[in-house]
Amino acid sequence: GQPGRTDPLVFDIREWRFGFPIVIASTAVGLDLADTPGTTVRLKVDAATTVGRSRNLIADSRWGDRDEVVMAGAHLDSVTEGPGINDNGSGSAAILETALKLAHLPTKNKVRFAFWSAEELGLLGSDQYVAGLSQAERDKIRLYLNFDMVASPNDVTFLYDGDDSDAEGAGAGPAGSAAIEKLLEKFYGRRGLGFKGTDFDGRSDYGAFIANGIPAGGIFTGAERIKTAEEAARFGGTADAPYDACYHAACDTIANVNDAALDRNSRAIGYATAFYAYDLSGIPD
Ligand code: PHE
Ligand code: ZN
Ligand code: ZN
Ligand code: ZN
Repeated sequence: GQPGRTDPLVFDIREWRFGFPIVIASTAVGLDLADTPGTTVRLKVDAATTVGRSRNLIADSRWGDRDEVVMAGAHLDSVTEGPGINDNGSGSAAILETALKLAHLPTKNKVRFAFWSAEELGLLGSDQYVAGLSQAERDKIRLYLNFDMVASPNDVTFLYDGDDSDAEGAGAGPAGSAAIEKLLEKFYGRRGLGFKGTDFDGRSDYGAFIANGIPAGGIFTGAERIKTAEEAARFGGTADAPYDACYHAACDTIANVNDAALDRNSRAIGYATAFYAYDLSGIPD
């Protein structure tokens, strides 16, 4: 777009979904290309006063086959105990940055970004989104990438265990999930960076997708659980301490962001999203 011009065509804001049983915030998005080439998108969040409603924000890329949809999602809400900057400003920021960069590319497939609401109230936003789609619309979603907590201070690079080979064995994701895990492993492996599997344990917004047979994957850097000595040896950081000591606490502020992890993982998020924006050959129909 031209400098100073707000271009509504960069993304189609597809959906403002009303009617959740609870409110977090009402969210409006402004697309502002004033700073091109360093394009900015402002997410304007106005304080919600009406109890009883919340909204996801779903944005589709301008380009791409509408029948081949690649989704990337992060929950935008936080718990009331704190501002939720690692959980989950981190994932939200990473997919927003990915959206900004991808907006300028004529992708082959449609890329759909989901900023979920009411995750902390029980995955309400993503559950209701998936439940509200027709089967035909669900079938167009070729895969879902989830990013919830990607900048934990005492981080481990956990990748959702789509092949059920390297976590505790909660089961593999739908066919195609293993390929997503492999692609992310390749990103880290090529850079000499460690990673390990984490189970699809139902604690984040991929749940409704895998329950409906949609391949899923993603990155997680750890929450309240304790880093083992083996993990500290491989990933650095502090053994016998939580991955994120400020999980669901007032101290989950901007000071709680692990900049190195955010940088590294945002690159992986951009890589995987852009890869699938052009190439779904590894993902079954
Ligand atoms: N979804 C959890 C939360 O928002 C955190 C979490 C993410 C736990 C991913 C496990 C895996 O509080
Ligand atoms: Zn949380
Ligand atoms: Zn979270
Ligand atoms: Zn695995």
